[in-house]
Amino acid sequence: MLKNDYLPAKSYTDPAYFTLEQEHIFSKTWAFAGLREDITKPGQFISVQAGLNNIIVIMDENHTLRAYHNICPHRGTQLLAPKGKVDKHITCPYHDWRFDLNGQLRSLPKKNIEFKDLDKKCFALKAASVELWRGMLWVHPEENPIKLSQWLGEIVDHIGPHDVEKLVEATNDVVVKDVAANWKIVIENYIDHYHLAQLHAGTLNMYDHAKANFQFFGPHFAFHEPLTKSYHDNIERNSPLPLIKHIEKADLAAWVPMLFPGIGLTASESSWSVFQVIPLAVDKTRIVIRTKIQPSSDLTYLSQSMRSAFYWRNLIFAKDATASDDHPLASEDFLAEDIYVCEQLQRSLTSPMYQQGPSALFGEAPVREYQRIVWQYIKAYSPEQ
Ligand code: FES
Ligand SMILES: [Fe+2]
Repeated sequence: MLKNDYLPAKSYTDPAYFTLEQEHIFSKTWAFAGLREDITKPGQFISVQAGLNNIIVIMDENHTLRAYHNICPHRGTQLLAPKGKVDKHITCPYHDWRFDLNGQLRSLPKKNIEFKDLDKKCFALKAASVELWRGMLWVHPEENPIKLSQWLGEIVDHIGPHDVEKLVEATNDVVVKDVAANWKIVIENYIDHYHLAQLHAGTLNMYDHAKANFQFFGPHFAFHEPLTKSYHDNIERNSPLPLIKHIEKADLAAWVPMLFPGIGLTASESSWSVFQVIPLAVDKTRIVIRTKIQPSSDLTYLSQSMRSAFYWRNLIFAKDATASDDHPLASEDFLAEDIYVCEQLQRSLTSPMYQQGPSALFGEAPVREYQRIVWQYIKAYSPEQ
């Protein structure tokens, strides 16, 4: 049983839970793999971890995206590194078995001596699934899984007006951070409304947290909150980057959905990001953030950042003068603030004195619901049964 709506503390600290989650959550759901522009030519590929599976996404000669398990059918060696391009074949680095881009085994060294009776047709790469949705590549370890649109369901109508295909990636601004906390703490923080006005009092105060709307659609979470009136009234001056042109000014706001189990989409008046939570160990999580912005000239960016300097200067001077500059809470960076509290929370979980306290009626309701959903996936296998 899930006690008091909370996951057991051990699910954040015990490697047995980590393995269960990898097997029963991340190996059975759709995983974000990359952006459409990561694969544009035949032979170009990426590989991505989806729970216990490593999956290759590659474009074949007909420009169709294909997905295969990254396992050689000979002895099992991973065939390809995280990203790159091959010509017409995927060649295993170990004994040079060669597969075409449709996954068929085409040749193997010394076939007539070492493998006289081997039928090449029986040793194709194992198929997985790939779908393209809103400029993003998604993979599933199964060959015939639930369709991505069916998996996402109603959430697709609540993720905001950003047209990802009209934006360009800020490739110099990819963020990769390893966090010393369980992956669920990172996601719970992402969907926790209660902390916004406190932890981020100095960094996310352009949003009107009191007017936030949020709810789950199946396992996925929708979140929207408007900008404050004063920020919105002067949005051209305040925005640190050029505004996204295809969105009506009235709709410029924060849209921050979370797609189960661990993908955040963070859209604002001037950017759209995918926030990927990658569990590395029970107490270690990698966050990868890729951001897209309105295409503009360098000059436009420069003048925009100068116009918004007034806003940022105010923000900096508004800070507590006694705070130490190298402390995450004095960093002016809301991600650093979030990472700090996630790691502080993880530190307490192994203490014999740790006890989950009361949960905020509205602001922490998403956290309770998220824990309930995770529990549905793992309860049948939980050591706490
Ligand atoms: S393991 Fe791939 S060719 Fe031997
Ligand atoms: Fe936060």
